[in-house]
Amino acid sequence: MNVVVTKSYDESCTYVADMICKLVNEKPNCKLGLATGGTPVPMYKKLIEANKAGKVSFKDVHTVNLDEYCGIPGTHDQSYRYFMNTNLFDHIDIDKANTFVANGMGDFEANAAELEAKVREGGVADLQLLGIGNNGHIAFNEAADVLHATAHTETLTESTINANARFFEKKEDVPTTAITMGMGDILAAKCVVLIATGAAKENAIRGLIMDDVITTHNPSSMLKMHENVYVVIDEELANLVGYKA
Ligand code: F6R
Repeated sequence: MNVVVTKSYDESCTYVADMICKLVNEKPNCKLGLATGGTPVPMYKKLIEANKAGKVSFKDVHTVNLDEYCGIPGTHDQSYRYFMNTNLFDHIDIDKANTFVANGMGDFEANAAELEAKVREGGVADLQLLGIGNNGHIAFNEAADVLHATAHTETLTESTINANARFFEKKEDVPTTAITMGMGDILAAKCVVLIATGAAKENAIRGLIMDDVITTHNPSSMLKMHENVYVVIDEELANLVGYKA
């Protein structure tokens, strides 16, 4: 595992944006696995700036997102489709037909099967971007006694609902289930890049980078089995977990 410690969260975002731009420039038709949540937003801004400055073009890039809430349509301002459009796709030269976010409405099982197929379509992701939940979840694979390999519907934990309530008017509005890539889908990517910042992520990151234990109670710990993982954290978080480069 490559642990990258930067001076600041902004520098972490620059580091990851540069990695993505380098990949896209080397392989213009690459496939990116993308994430939502608060953490990647400033990184997406940097991709937009690079695209507008003519430093990178996304016109042949394909993307697949990790997850989507169940029960809200893609037009809802808290859906992950809406998030991706407004935080990235609307502002870069990507062909939206080449972007996939699972459908959160209708037949959830069929939608999960569609996501599973998209993960493999045309080959696996060249790079999978991840954030991490306070409980160590990646995508919406929640900390539990068992994890799932393939795309499925997941019941969100209280910890995740509480953490995501900040984006909704009230906690009761947070969907309680989501369609998510499974652990095998994430681990299938050629390269996995996880960004984390903030004290709330301390325990999850400690379990990811400070020992050799793999446990379903910190799903991110399964990344230890992948050959090409980058965990990008700032000094402040590295100090909290006691990580020394
Ligand atoms: C988002 C996702 C989640 C988030 C995680 C952290 O697509 O799959 O695993 O990455 O919940 O969210 P933030 O970045 O808001 O702390």
